[in-house]
Amino acid sequence: MAAPEPIRIRKAVIPAAGFGTRLLPATKSQPKEMLPVGRKPVIQYVVEEIAAADIAQLLIVTSQQKRAIEDHFDLNGSSAHGLDEVAHCQMHYTRQSVPKGLADAIAHAEPFVGGEPFVVSLGDSLIRSMNPGGVLPRLIDTHVREGAAATILFETVAPEDVIRYGIAKPAGDPGQEFAVADLIEKPSVEDAPSTLAVAGRYVFAPTVFDYIRRTQPGRGGEIQITDTMRLMLQDGLPVWGVRMGEGERRLDIGNYRSYFRAFLEMALIDPDFGEEFGEFARARLDQDAE
Ligand code: G1P
Repeated sequence: MAAPEPIRIRKAVIPAAGFGTRLLPATKSQPKEMLPVGRKPVIQYVVEEIAAADIAQLLIVTSQQKRAIEDHFDLNGSSAHGLDEVAHCQMHYTRQSVPKGLADAIAHAEPFVGGEPFVVSLGDSLIRSMNPGGVLPRLIDTHVREGAAATILFETVAPEDVIRYGIAKPAGDPGQEFAVADLIEKPSVEDAPSTLAVAGRYVFAPTVFDYIRRTQPGRGGEIQITDTMRLMLQDGLPVWGVRMGEGERRLDIGNYRSYFRAFLEMALIDPDFGEEFGEFARARLDQDAE
């Protein structure tokens, strides 16, 4: 008998339906996912990361005021206008018409995903990686090898920052990959079981949709994907974590503090202007110090 075909992940979902209230007024009439970080809007980096992992079918879940995202990925005529790395991707769009939370946004992907495992990448954070292919291949490898129901990318954050993230309780001492024992969405500093924060990249088995249907509203009255995975764990399904490694950094666009950092970091590595911009920034800061 022929060996079974290795599982390949062919589909990715990008939830991009959040209102971006923490970035007003910049997001009053445009999606936060379209804010430029260096030369490109943040969502382009997210799509490029997915395309680099050899996934070419993408669904973006949008909402009001998000049409600029669809316009951005249209190819006009023969020139890809800087979209060369993603020009081969099949882009699909659907709308979350009521803001019921991240898990509800992901639930909108069920008809697109069918019965296959899939990647979810949040549209408001980009992950810089020195590793060829980025973080997704590692996440997918762990997911397939462990037969996981969900696999999550984690970043270690400062203890006072746990209140902004989903936080893991690892089963035992966490290595680069670890079994997750429990998850809490945005715990208080006192209640946080670790400083391992959900970093906005997930792989799910299609059974996630059954668990989303059973998830009650949680933090902020929204249906949280962290709570969905908690239900999976309570049913004994394997949920795995992969830690971001050396040379990997998450740049978050969710608030101005992190957005400014992300922009600075990407402007500094711009192929044409990065060096010159770095000199300008240094001179400008020296001037202030005088
Ligand atoms: C979401 C998730 C949270 C995760 C975070 C990463 O929160 O609910 O678990 O840690 O993204 O950026 P949000 O930032 O949308 O409030």
